[in-house]
Amino acid sequence: LSSSSTYTVPPSVLLLGPDNAGKTALLTLFERGAKPSATHTSQVSHSIELNASTDSVTKASFRNHDDATGTHTKFLLVDTPGHGKLRNVAMGKLARTEKTKAVVFLVDAAALGEQETLAPTAAYLYDVLLFLQKKATSKGKDKASIPVLIAANKMDLFTALPATMVKTHLETELTRIRASRSKGLLDSGVGIDDVGSEEQDGWLGEYGSEKFTFQQMGEFDIDVEVLAGSVLTEEPGADKWWWWIAQRI
Ligand code: GTP
Ligand code: MG
Repeated sequence: LSSSSTYTVPPSVLLLGPDNAGKTALLTLFERGAKPSATHTSQVSHSIELNASTDSVTKASFRNHDDATGTHTKFLLVDTPGHGKLRNVAMGKLARTEKTKAVVFLVDAAALGEQETLAPTAAYLYDVLLFLQKKATSKGKDKASIPVLIAANKMDLFTALPATMVKTHLETELTRIRASRSKGLLDSGVGIDDVGSEEQDGWLGEYGSEKFTFQQMGEFDIDVEVLAGSVLTEEPGADKWWWWIAQRI
């Protein structure tokens, strides 16, 4: 394929996030333009081709498929399995997909108040952000700063945390994970000023900072945004996520 000059790969948007977050449901919603279909636990990745417009009448809605009033950009939306045992499949997509323009990390906002959901969700997000940070600071030809949308799903459920709390819960948990993953380093008695660049490379966000914030990813030109929505209901729906994607492809 790489030898073909006429074949161009469309930009990709990766759907990542833990199992049961609603990734496959969101993909079917965008694909159909209406009700999402029933889903099963995904075991493989699956991509579909979509068109988004930033200049049509219905530009901010995923229901703009039939809208002929604007220029549409073709892109691939890539669904991945969220199950922890299949993490290599999802991370492999992240590492190998050509022309990844954005990552949508879907979370179940209705379950994120529970530590048993928050901990694995944040651990996965940590790995994704650290991978992207390394990619942004690499010197190779695939150096890139890929923006991340944290899509807080299931806002229709009464247990759903609002976007601001999804953000702070995740930041707090990411701070905890960062501290525990760097514990070996801190325990060795090496002061922050003495560590080499290799240790710094393994540290997520602003080096040596006490608390992790998504804003710190800005140091690597990685924009992280948290937006609330719902796949199964019209309100708040998925239009905000679509518009975020449309502006980045
Ligand atoms: P894996 O394939 O295991 O990684 O999960 P997934 O992220 O693809 O989740 P999936 O799309 O299969 O959705 C999981 C469950 O959440 C399904 O029963 C969906 O119907 C439900 N779901 C998805 N979005 C919403 C939502 O906005 N609100 C509510 N209440 N349920 C939702
Ligand atoms: Mg799925």
